Amino acid sequence: MKSRIFSGIQPSGDLHIGNYLGALAQWSKLQESGDYEILFCVVDLHAITVPQDPVILKKKIREVAALYIACGIDPSKSKIFIQSENPDHAYLTWIFDCITPMGWMERMTQYKDKSKKNGERTSVGLFNYPLLMASDILLYDPDLVPVGDDQKQHLELAADVAEKFNKTFGEAFKIPKIFNQKETARIMSLSNPTAKMSKSDEDPSGSILLLDDAETIEKKVKRAVTDSGNEIQYHSDKPAISNLLAIYSGFSGTSIENAERKNKNSSYGEFKADLASVLVEKLGEIQRRFNELIKDEAHLNTVLDEGRDFAHSISSKKIELVKDLVGLRR
Ligand code: TYM
Repeated sequence: MKSRIFSGIQPSGDLHIGNYLGALAQWSKLQESGDYEILFCVVDLHAITVPQDPVILKKKIREVAALYIACGIDPSKSKIFIQSENPDHAYLTWIFDCITPMGWMERMTQYKDKSKKNGERTSVGLFNYPLLMASDILLYDPDLVPVGDDQKQHLELAADVAEKFNKTFGEAFKIPKIFNQKETARIMSLSNPTAKMSKSDEDPSGSILLLDDAETIEKKVKRAVTDSGNEIQYHSDKPAISNLLAIYSGFSGTSIENAERKNKNSSYGEFKADLASVLVEKLGEIQRRFNELIKDEAHLNTVLDEGRDFAHSISSKKIELVKDLVGLRR
């Protein structure tokens, strides 16, 4: 049997090049190796842990699914589905709610950050989110979960919950492992290289969106913060240039060392112009494919229906086992 891979992206906000380099590009590489059975989920139930406009959310869910394909996910090789179309995710979350100590959840740094921002409006769902993520993963027994660095703590929690369930009730879940590439696992904001590029960043100049047009991409790269000095060097003393080099390397398919060598004699301005042209070309290809896919409603529906049925055929067996072990059976 092939090893399995599971991952997902929230249809909240607009996808950016951090999502591409930290997740989508890794996913398509794993897919092309041909070594895995793969499921990619549009995690819409995660998106509603903070307020969403229903009309925009519906649109975003389809957009994210189309972007998966436009970025290289091939539905004949990987299954794509929408989380809320498989009720098993929410069901397993409740079971995990009942065995997970509050203290484990209170330690989640992303919750602490987001709840500070949302203040009194912070929902129970936002607190509970890591257990929904644990359910997403554990339902499918994946060997690897390709995600960026910001999801590491959530993945560790999923592993702890799996162990706790297995010890308490009997073997049900495989312990998942994180997969990522050090250089692209944490792409930083272009306007603040000490903060992660993020969908929820209020400063639009910090992120390059997958659907930004050429002019916007050029403007954002031109305005990107740089470090003192003038060498194009990947070094901890040069967080801004290192971030641009990681982006350059990820989009041009060359190593960071090669990117450094190629730009050795360039000024910051010349390097930025080169980076912008690489981004415009690659994102332009993605956008052309996206524009075709988003028009073809019937095709996208077929992909998502097939993905949902495939996902449910696996997860329903897991739910039956869980119910049996927990004692929820006549
Ligand atoms: P989300 O939607 O915030 O991000 C999607 C993916 O993009 C990665 N990522 C980044 N990688 C590098 N640099 C960045 N600046 C950057 N920003 C985001 C994320 O690490 C992620 O891989 N909770 C998850 C979604 C989720 C999930 C799952 C993932 C729900 N259930 C099960 C895997 C398995 C999230 O909010 O990702």
